[in-house]
Amino acid sequence: MAHDLSRVIKAPQGPSNEDTDALLPDSLLAFLGCRTPHAWVEAALDNPELLLIDHAQCEKKAASTAMSLMYRYVDHPLLLSKMSQLAREELLHFEQVVGLMERRGIVYRHIKASRYAEGLRQQVRKEDPQRLVDILLIGALIEARSCERFARLIPYLEPELAKFYRTLVKSEGRHYEDYLMLAERYSKEPLESRLAVLRAVEKELIERPDVSFRFHSGIPVTNRVENASSQVS
Ligand SMILES: [Fe+2]
Ligand SMILES: [Fe+2]
Repeated sequence: MAHDLSRVIKAPQGPSNEDTDALLPDSLLAFLGCRTPHAWVEAALDNPELLLIDHAQCEKKAASTAMSLMYRYVDHPLLLSKMSQLAREELLHFEQVVGLMERRGIVYRHIKASRYAEGLRQQVRKEDPQRLVDILLIGALIEARSCERFARLIPYLEPELAKFYRTLVKSEGRHYEDYLMLAERYSKEPLESRLAVLRAVEKELIERPDVSFRFHSGIPVTNRVENASSQVS
């Protein structure tokens, strides 16, 4: 992209004084092992194309993960109803992000996934019910992180995107609660020790330097990490 796209997402008047912690429940902030580093927020504002394309990818992947659980755990009625509802909401978010991209002239293209989800997925134990509990706890961590990142970005965004991200803070916050509730329901043992392990892995992925900027990437090595052509996979 030859011209600077940053203005397509940045608030023209500069950041507002909105207190983004006020948008997030205390329990959600306590659930995560760390806050998003400000360097990531700066990289997001400098890479609007990658932010929105990867955001669309994340919504689609979230729907797909929920559908996978529905196929595997057909004898878990509460999981089926919660995941069905969640998948529909994620697909709606996907459509909304794609619409925002189209109105901003951002072309949807393939980009490589970040290391984040795969880094968490590697922690999943092999046997059920531990496997299911791990997937649900990781789902709760991803939803909570997404929620926290939307909130961190809001003060810097132009009004339409800020309004959209405020609605996502609410729905991803509900998804975090649903995943955690399901993990508690299906675990045969207290969750805290397993959660501590996964929380530490998630924190490390967020705080370790990362050469690729993505929605869930770590600390950017540089702001303009990669040019558009190097992103095509
Ligand atoms: Fe979503
Ligand atoms: Fe979600």
